[in-house]
Amino acid sequence: MVRKVLLIFAVLMLLIQLFRRGRNSSASASPNAIEANYQVPKEIGLLLRTSCYDCHSNNTVYPWYSQIQPFSWWLQSHVNDGKKELNFDQFNTYNIKKKKHKLDEVVEVIEKDEMPLSSYTLVHRKAVLSTQDKDKIIAWAKALKNAIN
Ligand code: HEC
Repeated sequence: MVRKVLLIFAVLMLLIQLFRRGRNSSASASPNAIEANYQVPKEIGLLLRTSCYDCHSNNTVYPWYSQIQPFSWWLQSHVNDGKKELNFDQFNTYNIKKKKHKLDEVVEVIEKDEMPLSSYTLVHRKAVLSTQDKDKIIAWAKALKNAIN
């Protein structure tokens, strides 16, 4: 009985490998990217790229296990949900009110340590933001919010 269950499980695991989801990658730089339209100092750009862009841009750097189901589905759902909320590569398509609101949210999620997601920083240690990094991003987001009008 146990062997049968294990066998069925193994077969199912193999079968789900056949179902792949689309990948989040874009060959060209987006003209609507935040850095193409607003002041994003190099240092801030690097921090956002390292800690946020896997889920909030048009390009995800996929880890090796993302080739394996069900990790791949789980990961892709984070990317899809994250992009829906905020896509730095589409930032310029938002209206002014939404731009300001998203920058407010950036401040909020960083202050509350909600982002980057802890399930992500568990594996991506480089994405962990130091107190200094957080302060820099917060100061930048606040200044940019005031500059947009
Ligand atoms: C592993 C994927 C992932 C990473 C990395 C990540 N986010 Fe998110 N983010 C999400 C998901 C998923 C949501 C939507 C659901 C939620 O709020 O949990 C989200 C939502 C948001 C929102 C919308 C507000 C809200 O409360 O939901 C903001 C703003 C945000 N993220 C900013 C950031 C910033 C800034 C970083 C980098 C410092 C970052 N995120 C890193 C996945 C991620």
